[in-house]
Parts: sequence; C-alpha cells; structure tokens
Amino acid sequence: MQRLYRKRIVLGVGGGIAAYKSAELVRRLRDQGAEVRVVMTQGGREFITPLTLQALSGHPVHLDLLDPAAEAAMGHIELARWADLVLIAPATADVMARLAQGVANDLLTTLVLATDAQVALAPAMNQAMWRDPATQANAELLRGRGLRFFGPAAGSQACGDVGPGRMLEAEELAQRAADCFQFLSLTGRHVLITAGPTQENIDPVRYITNHSSGKMGFALAEAAAEAGARVTLVTGPVHLPTPDRVSRVDVVSARDMLAACEAAMPADLLIAAAAVADYRPEVVAAQKLKKDPTKGDGLLLQLVRNPDILATLAQRADRPFSVGFAAETENLLEYASRKLKDKNLDLIVANDVANPSIGFNSEENAITVIDRELHETAFAQTSKGKIARQLIAFIADRLNQH
Ligand SMILES: Cc1cc2nc3c(=O)[nH]c(=O)nc-3n(C[C@H](O)[C@H](O)[C@H](O)COP(=O)(O)O)c2cc1C
Repeated sequence: MQRLYRKRIVLGVGGGIAAYKSAELVRRLRDQGAEVRVVMTQGGREFITPLTLQALSGHPVHLDLLDPAAEAAMGHIELARWADLVLIAPATADVMARLAQGVANDLLTTLVLATDAQVALAPAMNQAMWRDPATQANAELLRGRGLRFFGPAAGSQACGDVGPGRMLEAEELAQRAADCFQFLSLTGRHVLITAGPTQENIDPVRYITNHSSGKMGFALAEAAAEAGARVTLVTGPVHLPTPDRVSRVDVVSARDMLAACEAAMPADLLIAAAAVADYRPEVVAAQKLKKDPTKGDGLLLQLVRNPDILATLAQRADRPFSVGFAAETENLLEYASRKLKDKNLDLIVANDVANPSIGFNSEENAITVIDRELHETAFAQTSKGKIARQLIAFIADRLNQH
C-alpha cells in the first residue's frame, strides 16, 4: 500500500555527511506515493548536488530565498502552503539552532516559519555535537513547539565515533513520514463540507445574508483533502480560492445548497460549516421594490423557514457521520448541545461569534467540540488553518471508531 499516496512533502536537505542518504529518501518517499519537492540549504549543496535530487524528485530543487524566478512560481510561501509535511533530513545542528531561534535567513528556515504543515526533523551529526547541551536544548525547544523528531539512531559514525547522531535509514524515515498521517487518515472517504453564507433574494437587486466569510469551511476542506479524503465543498457566495484537490460547487440560496448537498450524497462525513439563512422572503419580487409613500416609512417583509440542511441530511437512511457548527453570541454550550440533540448530530463544533478576534470573518478561531455524551473538547485560539487540521484529525479519529 502506498501510505503517502498524494501527500506533498517538502524535503529539506541540510549540510551534513548524511545528505547522501537524502537521494535514497526521495526514492522511498515517492515509492510510497508522495510528491516530493526538495529544498537545499547552502550547506546541503556542498554535500550532494541539486542535479541528483532534481533527477530523483522529478522537479527543480529550490535553493534560494531571494530568487525572483522562484518567488513568482513557488517561493517560500507557496512551498509552505503546498506542503502536507516538511521533513528535514539531514537536520544539522546548525539548522536545528536556527529553527529554535526562529531565524529565517534561508529558504528552508523561512518556509518552516511560514508553514501550517507538520514539520519533522531527522537529526544527523557527530555524537558529541548531538550530546552538546546547546543542541539538546534546541531539540527540547523544538519538540515543545510540536516539531517531530525521527531519530537519531546510535551506532558507528562517518567520523569514526560511536554514539547517538546517525540519521535513520531512508526506508525508516519514509515509514515515519507516513506515520505522521495515520491518525489523520480519511483516505477513501467522501467528505461533504458546506461553507460560507447563503443569500436569500428579496427582489432582483437585494438579498438577505450574513457575515460568514467561508474561511473556516474552506480551511476544513483543505485539511480533509490533505488527510486523503475526496472532498466536495458546497459553498455560498464567498471570495476565496478553491483549495487544491477539492471539488467545489457554488450555490446562492439555502434551497440551492440543500439540492447540491443531496446531489453530492452519499458521503461518509458531513461537516456543515455554512451559515445558512434560517428564513427567506416568502415572495421574491419580480421587479425592484420601490418606496411606496402610501405605506408610510415601514416595509414589512414576510419571511418563511428555509429547509434545515443539516437535519435533513442527518435524518436520511444513508446518513453520513454528521458534524454541525453552532455559531452563537450567547449561551454557547447550552445552545450547541441542544442543536446536537435536535438535529441528530454526531458532533457539534461551538464557536463564539460575539468575540471579534474569532469567528466570522476573522483569521483565527477557538472552538469547543461536543459529542453525543456531551463530552466537551476545547481547541485553543489559533489560525483557522491550524484549527481545521486539529479538528479534521479529531473528527477522523471519531469517524474511524464509529
Ligand atoms: C565534512 C563535514 C561534515 C559535516 N557533517 C555534519 C553533520 O553530519 N551534521 C552537522 O550537524 N554538521 C555537520 N557539519 C557542519 C555543517 O556543515 C555546518 O554546521 C554547516 O554550517 C551546516 O549548514 P546547514 O545549516 O546548511 O545545514 C559538517 C561539516 C563538514 C566540513
């Protein structure tokens, strides 16, 4: 089985003797189905040629931060966004020190700062360098920030010493890279995600809508695709680019959204992150409404209930594992748990949209997930991209136990 099928791996190559093993590692990662892009440090280039890694990865090797050509095509930000995993092998003492300090003086260290993806280091160095308190303190700091360490192994070293500091073999590193995705695994699953607001027409030029930006739903779609799912994203009107590997269906009204979701069924997992209008105007005026002086200063708009998309899909015989969102401005957890029961959901994600630093239109979010046993799991405030990855990992875990 290709355990890294369609996974995107940035392989960072530092300036150590073990860089010769990176060539083999590119092969092993590709054998597992991964797409690999190589970034080399200045030091890395002294030990193995970019040409070798270009030939093995099938793509030009990225060398410079300040490269106008690379910036236009795929500079540090593009690579940071592209990656599902950044694996640095060999990770030299110098690369570790620079990462620990947040130094961003070359392409590799800059993209590590810029990425939301998982980062793993395969240290490779002389045993005394590895044991040195400075290196150990850096490793501790980086582990504390969530970077993973693959190795090092102990044994005989190129310099003649014996001890810890050997880089793991390529085969083992490829397996460890695959392990990074095992808990996220939605491979083979169809995931249906709704996002954004809906628009409910009043007349040909006016509509009722809400402040949803769609950012959370789009981040979830991206994270689900990274986790190997086939993703259908049904979205109301938003100004967001379609995440890679996601199939997008644009809709306007709540009724359109329900129809698009029904057309996309069956799905294994439904995540309803859209802010769907509960009501729509009963009658959509055929012509633009004019001010009517005979009716005084008011205008009475009669509204009717929209279909409940989530409840409708969660009640089907082939119902997917159903996850709802409760965006509330008060009594958050109480309203959210009521919604979980009323709509027959498996999980509900509660977020407090009264807090301007999270929720609608903001870049960050903080959420609490409630399950059927009313057990609450809180996710601390961070970027919507990071929250999305954590949430997808959590949901995938529950789905896989289901
Ligand atoms: C022959 C030779 C071998 C080296 N091997 C290693 C090594 O295995 N691990 C390490 O951390 N540094 C090693 N170094 C030191 C690094 O090359 C040096 O710290 C360099 O600045 C690291 O560059 P980087 O940050 O691009 O990885 C070696 C140096 C030389 C001259």
